[in-house]
Amino acid sequence: MKNKNFTTIKQAIEKAKSSESDKPLEVAIRGWVYRERGSNKKKFLVMRDGTEIIQCVLDRENFQEQWENIDKIKIESSVKLSGEIKKDERAPSGYEILVRDIEIVDIAEDFPINKDLNEKQLGDRRHLWLRSRKMTSSLKIRSTVMFALHEYMRKNGFTEIEAPSLSGATSEGGSETFEVKYFDKKAYLTQSWQFYAENYINAVEKVYAMAPSFRAEKSKTPWHVTEFWHFEVESAWFDLEDNMNLAEKCIEHSINKVLKDNKTELESLGVDIGKLEKIKTPFKRITYDEAIKTLQEKGHEIKWGEDFGSAEERSLAKYYGDSFVFVTNYPLELLKFYHGEDPNKPGTGTNFNLLAPGVGEMVDGSQREPDLGKIKQRLEKAGMDLGDSDWYLDSRRYGAVPHAGFGLGLERFVAWICGFDTIKDAIPFPRTPTRINP
Ligand code: 4AD
Ligand code: MG
Repeated sequence: MKNKNFTTIKQAIEKAKSSESDKPLEVAIRGWVYRERGSNKKKFLVMRDGTEIIQCVLDRENFQEQWENIDKIKIESSVKLSGEIKKDERAPSGYEILVRDIEIVDIAEDFPINKDLNEKQLGDRRHLWLRSRKMTSSLKIRSTVMFALHEYMRKNGFTEIEAPSLSGATSEGGSETFEVKYFDKKAYLTQSWQFYAENYINAVEKVYAMAPSFRAEKSKTPWHVTEFWHFEVESAWFDLEDNMNLAEKCIEHSINKVLKDNKTELESLGVDIGKLEKIKTPFKRITYDEAIKTLQEKGHEIKWGEDFGSAEERSLAKYYGDSFVFVTNYPLELLKFYHGEDPNKPGTGTNFNLLAPGVGEMVDGSQREPDLGKIKQRLEKAGMDLGDSDWYLDSRRYGAVPHAGFGLGLERFVAWICGFDTIKDAIPFPRTPTRINP
């Protein structure tokens, strides 16, 4: 099979769709055998590559000499082939290839993935499970979302700046931090880029990062992993409203990009396109007070002053039009020391959580407290000492400005788009309290 002009399966199908001539259309593709069945006269191979799947048919009478080997082809074998592409309503992608020429690149061993595997067995074979249609679709959508977020920020004057993953001090909170040996000292894996970002803004004003954050959370919920990808943004001179406007715009932009670029993947996952199409900015905004009232009316046992549980967060967005909803002004007691206090609603924060239907908290952000004295009071009240992280407060010592930022969990966003019931399907190799390999 030398000198063939190989195309992707998707390109081959597109070529066939746009071909107006009645002449047979010859295509050459290469990939892996996704499904196979045969009789002693014909062999059917459903081929998969990085783009699509297509059924390919081989007639024994055209392959007398090669038939013995063709008969040995098992799923996940790698193959190159060429032939005539034809419309076939019954075939998985609506087209099939009548094979004229085939080269078997590698006959696979018995593939150790089947529908009878339990969760643990599937986890052990994660690197192979990534070949499934579900996972390839998820990974492609994830890639589109990542690109779209970068694209939106770059177009809007943000500078991408990374922070170290290793640090000599913890930032967001002690108990959820991974401690690692750092020569003869202790270091910690980053939970968030925020402390660095709040200093970066005094240098370049509008910054963002896409990086892993680590959380030593033992909770084994479908919505937590111990290493997730964190899209974080910080902007000088922004208030709460600017911050929410920015968050919703980059989410809307990402969804539109997925709708445009990932039709095949959305279809393969059976995603209701209407759910994505109906997402339009501005998203609904409610306060914590309103959220508590709604939850109580709907029969949830929650009192003012309590934090929402996962079930409440997951339901709230459903109660508000089954769409994204911003909840603002949480009681300060529920917030970290860096969130600002709302002068129009004392005792509550200039903060928000963006909730997604079925998923819950997807973005967490706030207009930050710019005043050094107030931050110190808040730290004292919380019994916290920044210790080796005291440098963070220099952002307030040397030219403090109003500013705001947020963090979005990439896996939660992708899981919502794909309609998954766990974020573990939205990351190639999920890390959990019981899974660190492969
Ligand atoms: O709410 P979090 O902890 O907020 C922060 O880290 C802030 N410093 C962000 C900022 O303002 N720059 O995390 C932000 C988001 C959450 O809303 C959630 O989407 C995601 O990160 N997240 C997780 N995703 C997966 N697994 C976990 N264990 C997560 N913890 C948080
Ligand atoms: Mg949060």
